Amino acid sequence: MPQPVSGEQPGFGGGMEDDAAVIEQLRAAVDRRLAELSPERTARPARLAEAARYAVLSPGKRFRPMLTLLAAREFGGEPTVALDAGCAFEMVHAASLILDDLPSMDDAALRRGRATTHKAFDEATAILAAVGLLNQAFGIIAAQDALPASVRGELSRRLSEAVGFEGLVSGQAMDLHDRDLDRTSEDIDLLNHRKTGVLMVAAAEAGALTAGAPSTSVTAIGQFARHIGLAFQIHDDLIDAAVIAETGKDLGKDAGMATLVTVLGVEGARAAVEGHLEEASAALARAGADDGLLARYAFGLFEARKAAA
Ligand code: IPE
Ligand code: IPE
Ligand code: MG
Ligand code: MG
Ligand code: MG
Repeated sequence: MPQPVSGEQPGFGGGMEDDAAVIEQLRAAVDRRLAELSPERTARPARLAEAARYAVLSPGKRFRPMLTLLAAREFGGEPTVALDAGCAFEMVHAASLILDDLPSMDDAALRRGRATTHKAFDEATAILAAVGLLNQAFGIIAAQDALPASVRGELSRRLSEAVGFEGLVSGQAMDLHDRDLDRTSEDIDLLNHRKTGVLMVAAAEAGALTAGAPSTSVTAIGQFARHIGLAFQIHDDLIDAAVIAETGKDLGKDAGMATLVTVLGVEGARAAVEGHLEEASAALARAGADDGLLARYAFGLFEARKAAA
């Protein structure tokens, strides 16, 4: 099981650093800790460990662990625990990307500017690396001795729900089957929430829970992340349709599938993103966290991507 984090954790001091510097410190802390929590290079078989490290340590945005860390920061949380919990969510995310890219799913060749894991290794190794990462995530949560057992149990339950039959795997199943069916925008909202939103909800709530936030605030942070997740997936579908520029992964993988971009049109989809961002902001206000770094980071991500379009 993981060894404790060594050294001071940056970005929680509430000092004078500017936002970009704090965000960068936190992201760098996530990358360092992810490398420590991933299977060792010397593990056997080396190929499996290498595939897991390849998938999880490749250069992604680290959006889910940032939600965890910044939500914890809003409520004065202890950074070491939030860091490990955030890394657990990033491992689940990396596992979901390995599976999503498989030939039996989106059949993608490029991810984060590199060959997808099954292309760089092989399908069997990729699948086993994904299962290993999912499992590791639960071990990381269980090992958080600094948290009361009740909070560890709560984090595990929420992570399990986020992955499970009303979470990620069910969202992926909805996405993959009957792709050419007529779908209403409500059907697509459910699909998007399950395949993308639920993990963000659990990641953000985990941050608030590790910080001991009151339950009304945990709920409001979850509602914030629900709308961020819905906005995020519509935004991602605009990227797939080449409406918004982003490199590093295959485009056109949603061809033939009903998404909110095909159902509402490009302008309708953009308006839906804005609507979700407004709802997210209102939810953050209910948590008393609408003018903190969490808000500036999450909304800033959409601004930066809009500006790049
Ligand atoms: C990609 O997630 C999968 C979706 C839910 C759209 P990200 O856009 O967060 O991917 P990385 O982690 O930055 O590569
Ligand atoms: C992904 O949706 C949701 C996951 C849980 C992996 P997409 O299939 O649109 O994600 P990308 O575009 O491949 O990153
Ligand atoms: Mg997919
Ligand atoms: Mg995909
Ligand atoms: Mg996509």
